Amino acid sequence: LPPPTQSDITLGFDSIPGSLTDGVSIPQGYRAQVLAPWGTPLNDKAAPWKDDGSNTSDDQANAVGQNHDGMHFFPLNDAADDGLLCINHEYIEPDALHPTGPSVDPVTGLRTILDEVRKEINAHGVTVVRIKRTNGVWEVIKNDPHNRRFTGATTFDMSGPVAYSDHLVTAFSPDGSQTRGTLNNCGNGSTPWGTYLTCEENWPEYFVNKGEMSAANARIGVATKDTRYGWNHFAGHDEERADEFSRFDITPTGISALYDYRNEANGHGYIVEIDPYSPNQRGIKRTALGRFRHEGCTFGKLEEGKPVVFYSGHDSRFEYLYKYVSDALWSEADANSSNRIATGDKYMNDGTLYVARFDEDGQGEWLPLVPGTVTTDGKTLGEHLGTLADIIVNTAGAADLVGATPMDRPEWCAVDPFTGSVYLTLTNNTRRTEANPANPRLKNSFGHIIRWNEGASDTEFSWDIFVFGSPANGDSETNLSGLTDENQFASPDGLAFDPRGIMWVQTDNGAKEVTEHTNDQMLAVVPSRLLDAEGNQKPLRADNQMELRRFFVGPNDCEVTGVAFSPDYQSLFANIQHPGNWPYSDDATQITPAGISIRPRAATVVISKVDGTEVGV
Ligand code: FEO
Ligand code: CA
Ligand code: CA
Ligand code: CA
Repeated sequence: LPPPTQSDITLGFDSIPGSLTDGVSIPQGYRAQVLAPWGTPLNDKAAPWKDDGSNTSDDQANAVGQNHDGMHFFPLNDAADDGLLCINHEYIEPDALHPTGPSVDPVTGLRTILDEVRKEINAHGVTVVRIKRTNGVWEVIKNDPHNRRFTGATTFDMSGPVAYSDHLVTAFSPDGSQTRGTLNNCGNGSTPWGTYLTCEENWPEYFVNKGEMSAANARIGVATKDTRYGWNHFAGHDEERADEFSRFDITPTGISALYDYRNEANGHGYIVEIDPYSPNQRGIKRTALGRFRHEGCTFGKLEEGKPVVFYSGHDSRFEYLYKYVSDALWSEADANSSNRIATGDKYMNDGTLYVARFDEDGQGEWLPLVPGTVTTDGKTLGEHLGTLADIIVNTAGAADLVGATPMDRPEWCAVDPFTGSVYLTLTNNTRRTEANPANPRLKNSFGHIIRWNEGASDTEFSWDIFVFGSPANGDSETNLSGLTDENQFASPDGLAFDPRGIMWVQTDNGAKEVTEHTNDQMLAVVPSRLLDAEGNQKPLRADNQMELRRFFVGPNDCEVTGVAFSPDYQSLFANIQHPGNWPYSDDATQITPAGISIRPRAATVVISKVDGTEVGV
């Protein structure tokens, strides 16, 4: 029998109102629990979290990081109530991280306290933590052997075309086989063989080059002045700290072999694979999937004997959408491989990276980023840039040369498990002054979600726009999908399907036309059920707009991001990033009382039904 091409799910909750409070909102009959907030000890090496900001860098290296983002649940022993939660930590809030904000010399402007900088580096990266559910309540299992942190200082192996090339030679890794740190881990993915993918997004802002810059680093935006947090202030170029901090200052002049980190930034900007089940296995950066500001990484619908496909957006204004197609053909037996990293080597090191060109009439073409591809000026990528490794290090520059379509900030992708259609959030682009078919709105404040179906070959696809963000009171040029008070949203960002066919849409919105009505939120829709009279998939428009329902609203000042499920769908996990004055208690819905100011903590929220049945239906 062929697999079903339409979900049989209908949403079982009413859209909830917008909300503007220091608590989360959920539908009637649900509850929401705070789990694994920033600073939760993973083992006995970390002191308990202190609400005065005085935990040390060593505490932070053994505790949950800050500003939770993408996430995935990996079951243990096939259980629905026992597993490993992998959580990205995108960036930090120095004012919350330290007792009174970051140490800075008032005269020189330089950072002064070494342990603070180490704590900041350790608050980035990924947490792997074992969690268990008892009577509907989840708890962190402290000291579980799977618990571990990957931080801005952890050693990673390099793989794929850039590994062992001159691009990666540093004082730390003379053969170009390793690098240290994963930074600005935003969206995520997982693999069909049970590993976690963490995506390096705004990493160029952590490295400074005050001198001559490579074309690749100039294109991607490596900092030319001071960096985001000033970690380079401790570069110092003295022997004692050369190894630890010189790598954040990649200025190529005035360096010696002892601290030659001119190539350090080339070790960043990748999809990173982590095997949560193997606590002693290093993480691996998969360079074949490109080097840019990766938002997420999502695999396409699997078919035995066909390549494995991954999609990843580059989140900056006018940047591109990419897909990677493996050389190896999918074998279902690999889903249960016991050597998961070797399986990753099989599918993620050798393949073709493509960038998308969206054409008129809903058609599109994937353009291969390989040396032989003809560029828009009639030469080839090889003539312009060199080898495959050279092309990958400058992925965005290569995409410019082949005429890819500049998009309105590509964020997460999600694949409908029934139809195989792929959805991509385009969060906003207020600087757009020239429309193209896939990005039709000038000064796009509210964003949209585009989708496509792959064509008969690896290079063809067809696309349409699924929904446009808008305030409910937007005019007919603005509110193109007929949104109402019950589902108005802007700046879609996090996006995921659960295997039942529900698509979950999360927002990271700054457009006041919507923020004056509601905080950031999570909505749900079952796209495979929206069909026209001929049985073709139909976008969300005024005649079916109530199929998009608001499920969750976050507390003030936050962004809602990251979504995961227990295998029995009784628990849905979502992350609250950069809350303003939350969480007040373990009950995520409890509103911080007026007049009480608390040290905010990013956290996971577990949403479940009071009666213990499946979430969403
Ligand atoms: Fe870190 Fe593109 O959101
Ligand atoms: Ca994001
Ligand atoms: Ca965003
Ligand atoms: Ca964010």
